[in-house]
Amino acid sequence: MAQYDVIVIGAGPGGYVAAIRCAQLGLKTAVVEGRETLGGTCLNVGCIPSKALLHATHQLHEAEHNFATMGLKGKSPSVDWPTMQEYKQSVVDGNTKGIEFLFKKNKIDWLKGWGSIPAAGKVKVGEETHDAKNIIVASGSVPSALPGITVDNEAGLVVDSTGALALPKIPKKMIVVGAGVIGLELGSVYKRLGAEVTVVEFLDNITPGMDGEVQKNLQKILKKQGMEFILGAAVQSVETTKTKAKLTYKLRKDESEHTLDADCVLVATGRKAYTDGLGLADLGVEMTDRGQVKTDAHWATNVKGIYAIGDAITGPMLAHKAEDEGMAVAEVIAGKHGHVNYSVIPGVIYTHPEVASVGATEESLKAEGRAYKVGKFPFMGNARAKAVFASEGFVKIIADKDTDRVLGAHIIGPAAGDMIHEICVAMEFGASAQDVALTCHAHPTYSEAVREAALACGDGAIHV
Ligand code: NAI
Repeated sequence: MAQYDVIVIGAGPGGYVAAIRCAQLGLKTAVVEGRETLGGTCLNVGCIPSKALLHATHQLHEAEHNFATMGLKGKSPSVDWPTMQEYKQSVVDGNTKGIEFLFKKNKIDWLKGWGSIPAAGKVKVGEETHDAKNIIVASGSVPSALPGITVDNEAGLVVDSTGALALPKIPKKMIVVGAGVIGLELGSVYKRLGAEVTVVEFLDNITPGMDGEVQKNLQKILKKQGMEFILGAAVQSVETTKTKAKLTYKLRKDESEHTLDADCVLVATGRKAYTDGLGLADLGVEMTDRGQVKTDAHWATNVKGIYAIGDAITGPMLAHKAEDEGMAVAEVIAGKHGHVNYSVIPGVIYTHPEVASVGATEESLKAEGRAYKVGKFPFMGNARAKAVFASEGFVKIIADKDTDRVLGAHIIGPAAGDMIHEICVAMEFGASAQDVALTCHAHPTYSEAVREAALACGDGAIHV
């Protein structure tokens, strides 16, 4: 039994990043992880495998829709689903092994098994109990269940995001419950693979919390791609036979009841913090009423020496938010000044086109009563985007009406998830829209659209 400075529970993006930073700061560190591989939900059954499937199916889309126009003639590729699954798994394996390598490099012990905290300063894994001056709970989240629906990932008929990444076969008809990030990304994968995809959403808009203009534009684009939407609909139940599922929903406007048939239902209605089996209640660790671990501004719980980060606490359930907290809590434990700027955390949806956003929306500023101005530029005016069939969407920058300080940005378009970081850096430095507009941007790049939107906050964009 070793004595550790820090034991991290969970090796997802929050936990493994925290562990690496702890080790770099000279702390003797171990990570408890019960999965066979490191990386948590993100690497094993989340961000990474979904990106592999999104990439592969986007290539198919390009072959089917754009190759001939570019003079690339011939039959479109056919889909070999088992091989696509192997490709996805090889991407996952490469990444999870990469974390194992980083653990070895940083001399971090992997305590294999599911951990619990029998007392402050103690972590039990299997039959062994280890001493730790500090414990970081980074146990992540799991899909939240919907009453009336039983998920069975093995059967592949009613699945959550984990099941949807490995369906036994490509469904002919798929219903996606929830028009959030998971629903739209995985719905896009199966739509491109030829499934009829209907998204049933409780609210009247897709992607809750996003900029209203982006919501409407994205829905229009996805509809054009063939995705159907039923909005304002509360899903009641799903009944299954051996091969079919029947979903019942109620329209909120008139309470009328309707049914839909499908050969796969993906339930993507959010996730909830996962802290089962840790023994937090017995330790007296305070929780929120949504089952998340309560922490202070330094990720400390009310029990001395126990910290928590990532999906297990409050805030957006995003891998990069967890990573930032992981680095910051390591610094706090090492006696430094870890900090996370929660107002500059980007969000990305990896549909095609991508959607990315950071900071304030028009809706949030209106609610706050803050005066703002908007600079917008459509990708239709961007030469690079036009050259690669990616001219849908726009960049929208929101700046303070008086000071011109950038308050937020919302991008729907090619590589939006990468471009958003220019705005994140600008916001971190308290830049004005003019600062962005006066920065030379290489031509021809998608990023020129960001500059043009910044110009539109002032005297005007050039290419409109
Ligand atoms: P979400 O919270 O993004 O969306 C869930 C949707 O389901 C909401 O629009 C909600 O109104 C709807 N809904 C809830 N109950 C319903 C009902 N009974 N009938 C119809 N619709 C209903 O959750 P999602 O997509 O499951 O994602 C979970 C978490 O994982 C999110 O926090 C998300 O940010 C994160 N994630 C992030 C990704 C990324 O950054 N690209 C990718 C995948 C997940």
